Amino acid sequence: MLGNFTYCNPTKLFFGKNAIDHLGGELAKYGRNVLLVYGGGSVKKNGIYDAVIKILEAAGKTVFEDGGVMPNPTLDKLYEGCERARAAKADFILAVGGGSVCDYAKAVSVSAHCKEDPWQKYYVRFEEPDCEIIPVGCVLTMVGTGSEMNGGAVITNAKEKMKVGHVFGEKVFPKFAVLDPEYTFTLPRYQMIAGIYDIMSHILEQYFSGSDDNTSDYISEGLLRSLIHSAEVAAKDPYDYEARSNIMWTATWALNTLVAMGKSTDWEVHMLGQAVGAHTDATHGMTLAAVSMAYYRFILDYGVSKFRRYAVNVWGVSPDGKSDQEIAKEGLSRMENWMKELGLTMRLGELGVTADMLPAVAQSTLVMQGGYKVLNRADILAVLKASL
Ligand code: NZQ
Ligand code: ZN
Repeated sequence: MLGNFTYCNPTKLFFGKNAIDHLGGELAKYGRNVLLVYGGGSVKKNGIYDAVIKILEAAGKTVFEDGGVMPNPTLDKLYEGCERARAAKADFILAVGGGSVCDYAKAVSVSAHCKEDPWQKYYVRFEEPDCEIIPVGCVLTMVGTGSEMNGGAVITNAKEKMKVGHVFGEKVFPKFAVLDPEYTFTLPRYQMIAGIYDIMSHILEQYFSGSDDNTSDYISEGLLRSLIHSAEVAAKDPYDYEARSNIMWTATWALNTLVAMGKSTDWEVHMLGQAVGAHTDATHGMTLAAVSMAYYRFILDYGVSKFRRYAVNVWGVSPDGKSDQEIAKEGLSRMENWMKELGLTMRLGELGVTADMLPAVAQSTLVMQGGYKVLNRADILAVLKASL
């Protein structure tokens, strides 16, 4: 049964070639002081920074810069960003970059005026903000996380080796997001395919939970089919606009809350991947790819009918003359082959994880309740060992 829900996504999207032309109009709605947040320099090399600065100047904004946001943004960087935002008396935060930059901007937006330690409030106690929230807008340059249209903000506490995501409510969603698929053309191949798998994992984490005949799952199957096809095209030709734009749009829908409406969700693969990320600082999508096959094979027996449906509806497995179990396994094999052909990281060892690290990684893995099997510590360790 489709459960009760309230659906509201307040983020306004501008999608397509030259979508940046809408930036000036949006910025005009906010105050003068803009904190411009970006990553390690890709936006300076590919010209996106210059285009944004020009628009900010034309809009008469006073710009304060906060560059150097690292992939998997850290708590220390968040503290620094809060100081910058306060010193700038920021009226608006403009994030220009990938999920790390967008997440960081949202984390600063709720933390700059927070009266207590944001880590404790948001990432230990998972409370909603009760202070002033600085509005955020995003110019997206890397596709995968869906951060451009959701309230997620993942922060890594390097000292405690914890990587934790807080999914904030709609007040924290970006006010707008600029999505130009051509902005993603300069992404290194490794990041492109990591992002593609991040998208797939987001959809699967919401799909592999519950067993109802639910509209959300049909939407997910469509998104997955589009993603699988477009990824194959983009892998051959990264400059194929149609494929890259389909991937960008699919990423947004994969994690803008729509496909979770009225159903339960899992998210254990993300908890495993985030624990790996906390111990290695590896690329997010690759941490997910490295643990996924072992996890799905581990839980397959507890959700055979859904894995069977996935095999048939998404991977086109013919059910004729096969048991449900065989069909389900064939679906996972096809997924595994597709992942390998794309060039994804299939083993934790490739991300710098060694056998002696596994107990600590297992210890920092949060346990979710919505999957086909709620894992215990021994299960988590078994999945990690099988992924090594
Ligand atoms: O830092 P720069 O120099 O900009 O380089 C980045 C970075 O090295 C580069 N890049 C981005 N756009 C580029 C580009 N290089 C060339 N051309 C471009 N156009 O790509 C690298 C990775 O960027 P990053 O932002 O780290 O990647 P991604 O978008 O995958 O974000 C990962 C972060 O998002 C979190 C992850 O945990 C991780 O911290 N997530 C956020 C979620 C959310 N908000 O809902 C959900 C996700 O599951 C995820 O957990
Ligand atoms: Zn993700």
